[in-house]
Amino acid sequence: MDHRSHIIASQQRVVLARAGIINPESIADYIAHDGYTALGKALTQMTPAQVLQEIIDAGVQGRGGAGFPIGMKLKFVAEARRSQSSPAGAGQSGVKYVLCNADESEPGTFKDRLILEGDPHSILEGMMLAGYAVGAREGYIYIRGEYRLARQRLEHAMAQAHEFGLLGEKIFGADFSFDIHIHSGAGAYICGEETALIESLEGNRGEPRIRPPYPVTNGIWGNPTAVNNVESLANLPPIIRQGAAWYRTIGTAKCPGTKVYTMLGDLNVTGLIEAPMGTTLRTVIEVYGGGMKGGKPFKLAQTGGSSGSILDASFLDVPMDLAELASRGGGLGSGALLICGDDTCVVDLAHVLLRFFATESCGKCVPCRIGTTRAKEILEQLADARATMDDLVQLERIAANMQIASFCGLGQAAAVPILTALRFFRDEFVAHAQAHKCPTGVCAMRGESVTATTGPRERKELATAA
Ligand SMILES: Cc1cc2nc3c(=O)[nH]c(=O)nc-3n(C[C@H](O)[C@H](O)[C@H](O)COP(=O)(O)O)c2cc1C
Ligand code: SF4
Repeated sequence: MDHRSHIIASQQRVVLARAGIINPESIADYIAHDGYTALGKALTQMTPAQVLQEIIDAGVQGRGGAGFPIGMKLKFVAEARRSQSSPAGAGQSGVKYVLCNADESEPGTFKDRLILEGDPHSILEGMMLAGYAVGAREGYIYIRGEYRLARQRLEHAMAQAHEFGLLGEKIFGADFSFDIHIHSGAGAYICGEETALIESLEGNRGEPRIRPPYPVTNGIWGNPTAVNNVESLANLPPIIRQGAAWYRTIGTAKCPGTKVYTMLGDLNVTGLIEAPMGTTLRTVIEVYGGGMKGGKPFKLAQTGGSSGSILDASFLDVPMDLAELASRGGGLGSGALLICGDDTCVVDLAHVLLRFFATESCGKCVPCRIGTTRAKEILEQLADARATMDDLVQLERIAANMQIASFCGLGQAAAVPILTALRFFRDEFVAHAQAHKCPTGVCAMRGESVTATTGPRERKELATAA
């Protein structure tokens, strides 16, 4: 067995069970591999309350980053009435929605794209199960604009499902009708935040809304809305098909199920894997990643995409689940794992990340609008040997303020890589600020001819030349 086949064989695939095996453009293939059996079971043998209870009992948490229990969210929507504070005429009493968040604009994250491209019917089935559980008859998929193939496959799957009577009126002959619409985003990272996403879907500027009220009571056009991530929804068919007790045998007690991880960086093998919650970083690196590239020593991992925590080697054997990492000051986020060897400069990495957040900040609130830009500037000064210890103190203060005072998750999370990097790699920041030295030699010292757009390779060359 070659290494890649070994990697596939050693995974535990629940969400990706069919990806790469079936033809994603064939509903017959999907049905031949247990497709739509969960929906059939739910609509012919279970009440909406029973479907809801099964999802609650499974203990499955959202896979979009925040880890909120999916069953609880659906319960809130099931029990919600349209809020009195909704704009007049904006919604109809009793109307509820299921909204699939397929915006996926976090750099380093591409798991949802591959789920959508590899198994589009599983998302339709997941949305219908959620719709049945909460009493919705309409759903929206808000998809990243660049995901053209995924959109094409979803549209094709929807047309086929309509043809087979699996989408539309009286599905499986039951008293349940459901339809789905697709909306493409226009490229703003903030539109992945659930309330900005709803604003954008309604045709407004994509800026977050104040919460509460939450979308579970005041979502699309003021109606109760379940906003869930692609991977979250893809977990629902296997849960209903095989039951909550089965689901709980996978993963950890606090975080059942699997996680789809993206593996990037200094690994021999990069890409997408699905493994039980609780898999360690060491297993990801050694088993799935085929070891560190060129045998270089491990230095750090950023878990959870660009807004994730920057963690050191003390995390290598920690079971990675949402609860365990959070209890140790880390976070799993969307499950994107960036693995870096000892030639990575943590200041340089933080600078690259903050450049992204400063560009993507929507500008609505001061802590994030000014904070991300100032943090980016200080990191740039640190990398260019133009910063002092006072600047370092200011950087930490700005990040702490962004975390507590930003209006939405973008500003709050933009502080995470800075604060965690400072926690685990403070000496490296101090070396840049005090001694004007980059311990890894990545940053060119003394600032000569270094610009904000100079990449790590050029910096290294400049450092060597100096
Ligand atoms: C700036 C920002 C971007 C986000 N982008 C996404 C995204 O692309 N996909 C996603 O599912 N959730 C994203 N989220 C989280 C959503 O707001 C929301 O928590 C999630 O869609 C809920 O789904 P879940 O409960 O199934 O995880 C983002 C949050 C923030 C603050
Ligand atoms: S935190 Fe950033 S993205 Fe969120 S509202 Fe404030 S400025 Fe906009």
